[in-house]
Amino acid sequence: MARILIKNGTLVGATGAAASDVLVEGETVAAVLAPGAADALGVSADRVIDATGKYVIPGGIDVHTHMELPFGGTFASDTFETGTIAAAWGGVTTIVDMAVQRYGENVHEGLAEWHRKADGNCAIDYGFHQIIGGVDEEALKAMTYLVDHEGVTSFKLFMAYPGVFYSDDGQILRAMQTAADNGAVVMMHAENGIAIDVLVAQALARGETDPKYHSLTRPSILEGEATSRAIVLSKVAGNVPLYIVHMSASEALDAVAEARHEGANVFAETCPQYLYMTLEDHLARPGFEGAKFVCSPPIRSRLDHRHHHRDLWKGLRMNELAIVSTDHCPFCMKDQKELGIGNFAKIPNGIGGVEHRMDLIYQGVVTGELPLTRWVETCCTTPARMFGMYPRKGVVAPGSDADIVVYDPKGTTRIGVGASHHMNMDHSAWEGTVIDGHVDVVLSRGSVVIEGGAFVGRKGHGRFVRRGLSQYLV
Ligand code: URP
Ligand code: ZN
Ligand code: ZN
Repeated sequence: MARILIKNGTLVGATGAAASDVLVEGETVAAVLAPGAADALGVSADRVIDATGKYVIPGGIDVHTHMELPFGGTFASDTFETGTIAAAWGGVTTIVDMAVQRYGENVHEGLAEWHRKADGNCAIDYGFHQIIGGVDEEALKAMTYLVDHEGVTSFKLFMAYPGVFYSDDGQILRAMQTAADNGAVVMMHAENGIAIDVLVAQALARGETDPKYHSLTRPSILEGEATSRAIVLSKVAGNVPLYIVHMSASEALDAVAEARHEGANVFAETCPQYLYMTLEDHLARPGFEGAKFVCSPPIRSRLDHRHHHRDLWKGLRMNELAIVSTDHCPFCMKDQKELGIGNFAKIPNGIGGVEHRMDLIYQGVVTGELPLTRWVETCCTTPARMFGMYPRKGVVAPGSDADIVVYDPKGTTRIGVGASHHMNMDHSAWEGTVIDGHVDVVLSRGSVVIEGGAFVGRKGHGRFVRRGLSQYLV
């Protein structure tokens, strides 16, 4: 078994940072050693990685991606191969992607299709959540089967997208009751899709067709309302674990904070686009450029009566928001986003970002929004615990998978097509962004996959992770 010694770095975990050496043996971490202990003990290694002046952190875990998602009349443009290679470039060693079942489709077939897409194609490890887009008797039974037999222990439901993935309150309650029985986490896209569709139709009738109207027809109070309703339903279902995905709005954060304060099993994530982008600076760019930033929930206005960015960063500090994911759902401008020229409602919803989350959230450490340990906690450790992968993933400790990133805090990362950009997209939503910090070396289960500014891994290295139940529940 190959032995790699990562020497002289600062090991950063969710609970602290300390000068440490890390010994990797084969696919797992063999030991975490005090500086100098490896020499004193005569530890030999096939390879030494010098991490002097650098952070050594657990590999990033992005628990919300959509590779090859059929959506908006097209497919998300990253395959499992291109998307997981891009993820590795960005210091991500595990993704949890969303397998799809739509109304009238069979859940088992949906999951099998996702296995077919991913199997043999991934450069890093991967798991699946299951989207339930059609709650019926068969789907409810399948949920329990997936928890018990397939290592799929979380299910995404939608209060948005009527006619596509939407579930009504009765369907949501039934799925939540099923999850309360089998221990699964219910993940919720919380926006009032029925009301939004009315606003969209009215805007189009007025001739308001530009990308910015995507945000103006999805007001933040409709995200707050749906979040509150989802929380109420989760209580009715018996305090079932509820995880609000891709939170963008202060009103939604208020609802989650209140529920958490009451002791409810309510959790939430946000994504970098909601921490940095605005309607005015991004969606409202001249011409059709704003289409690059069309995602749901939408990018919010910096002129709103609520300060969404500030509140979301605070939520991350206060653990009202547990996790940062990306909701990576890439579409090219050409032939994909362009479907919505003249009608914002036809722009495929989604932003690609799996490659940039670790850097973008590290930027929050640089600017004083987050402590260093919270960066690791929200991007690596909590994702593993929330979705039943800890301590195999999310921590650098003896016995854990050797998913490790050597991160250079003095480095610089330039994002953009032609710079750091490996996602299968013809543009970057983060074009021109410059970050203090750089992913130097990435190990996935003990194999070096990124080093020296090159991808040195291989497709097929990544394995399916069968997940257990959430480890946040008593
Ligand atoms: O705009 C988004 N978020 N696209 C992906 C689908 C979803 O709702 O997560
Ligand atoms: Zn969603
Ligand atoms: Zn999503």
